[in-house]
Amino acid sequence: MSRTLTVVGVSGSPTHPSRTTVLVDDVARSYAEAAGGVSRTIQLAPLLPELGAGPFRNSLSPIVTEALEAVEGADILVVGSPAYRATYTGLFKLFFDHIGQYALIDKPVVLTATGGSDRHALLVEHQMRPLFGFFQSLTVPLGIYASENDFADYEIRSEDLRARIDTAVARTLPLIRANIDPQARLATREFARPDAF
Ligand SMILES: Cc1cc2nc3c(=O)[nH]c(=O)nc-3n(C[C@H](O)[C@H](O)[C@H](O)COP(=O)(O)O)c2cc1C
Repeated sequence: MSRTLTVVGVSGSPTHPSRTTVLVDDVARSYAEAAGGVSRTIQLAPLLPELGAGPFRNSLSPIVTEALEAVEGADILVVGSPAYRATYTGLFKLFFDHIGQYALIDKPVVLTATGGSDRHALLVEHQMRPLFGFFQSLTVPLGIYASENDFADYEIRSEDLRARIDTAVARTLPLIRANIDPQARLATREFARPDAF
């Protein structure tokens, strides 16, 4: 790939500061560093009033539209939400309700979440993964969940969490690369054609 690879993070926390934003930003930076690309994290909290402006995309402000387009144009997406009532926040869903139905097909998506404890860690698998299944995205097989104890003063302080992030990047970047490298994609598609067997 000759152009610079872009990693876009989306933090669905309605608060600032936010542990979720810290996590999403760290994971997005880690993927960008490992892949030689650039990262950017979009916080949804400031967009909350504007996201409720109407049901259709043409009723949204330029700042929200720019965020939606950045997500749709990313090479790799890192999404994250705090657990609210055992699932992602309404803010997270409201944002993705405005993403084009076919805009994330084949997009590599890294799933992350934070919560008050580990009790709802499976929200990554049981709530977030199906949402991106709807979008026909390529959710990577390692999600990253962190609880409040993994942070201190809104910084990652847990060696275990750091190891989980490093492992996720090391194990899934080759899969992502295989998908976003046009030659690799072509080869995969050729192989996947029924008449190729
Ligand atoms: C309205 C509300 C609901 C919450 N529900 C849950 C929950 O169901 N499970 C959980 O583990 N934590 C729950 N929490 C705790 C947050 O998920 C946790 O503090 C999270 O790390 C906050 O992320 P943030 O700092 O990015 O906002 C809830 C917090 C709030 C404010």
